Amino acid sequence: MRVLNIGSLNIDIVYRVPHIVRPGETLSSFSAARHAGGKGLNQSVALARAGVEAAHAGAVGQDGLFLRELLEKEHVDCSGIEVLRDEPTGCAVIQVADDGENAIVLLHGANFAVTPERIRRALEKMPEGSVVLLQNEISSLKECMELAAKMNLRIFFNPSPMDKTIGALPLEAVDTFLVNEGEARALQTCAGERISRCNILTTLGARGAEYRGRNGEFVRVPAANAGKAVDTTGAGDTFTGYFVASLVQGEDPEAAMKRAAAAAAIAVTRPGAAESIPYLSEIIGNPDK
Ligand code: RIB
Repeated sequence: MRVLNIGSLNIDIVYRVPHIVRPGETLSSFSAARHAGGKGLNQSVALARAGVEAAHAGAVGQDGLFLRELLEKEHVDCSGIEVLRDEPTGCAVIQVADDGENAIVLLHGANFAVTPERIRRALEKMPEGSVVLLQNEISSLKECMELAAKMNLRIFFNPSPMDKTIGALPLEAVDTFLVNEGEARALQTCAGERISRCNILTTLGARGAEYRGRNGEFVRVPAANAGKAVDTTGAGDTFTGYFVASLVQGEDPEAAMKRAAAAAAIAVTRPGAAESIPYLSEIIGNPDK
């Protein structure tokens, strides 16, 4: 089975800082680095490193060719990534504090030049029974969900970053939501009964993760620990990609959550977003995971 991830590709400019800058404050950083990122790209890397056949659709500017090359090196099918002449690649300015926490400012760039027509072309290439993975960092999300639902594709949706546009989406078409606690609350507020037939996977930080299935199933797993957190950027994306990949590979939600938690725990011990995502061999090689 194949997973098509229709999502963002960003250039992450990462500043290491003693703490996240406060309103009105000017703060010196220890270092600045450029990394591959974007929730979409990170999740495609996680899917690929978790061992599933993944395809990515989205858009970059001429300055973002290295992002497509990175995904190609991970054996992700990049035929759905357009290179636009007149748009800059999406960009994230990220502060990473001493305790590993982060704060992000986003510039949409080419990610918001993704059109329904481009999405339709990518979806039509998908074999029957494929899975679609989405986040909230591209344009035309509503049309994308409508098209995928019409084609009976199973939609996994990570509504991150959560904002007021989410409530206007056809959320009842989603098979499984992947959210953190804050997103889970906001989702309930804006969607209410519309998502009562959807599965919801909620990550709980240091308390692990829980899964509520549409038929009343409930599973909770503890958080994993792989060492000191140096950078939490992309940890949620690692969890999401690994969880979806594991389900597609036939694992049940509990086993998928455990594997995803182990992957995210490793990711936070390394700097960067996409680069920090572990390979499956690093997880199943450990008998405790
Ligand atoms: O989830 C982390 C990602 O969010 C970063 O890589 C950044 O690009 C933003 O999209």
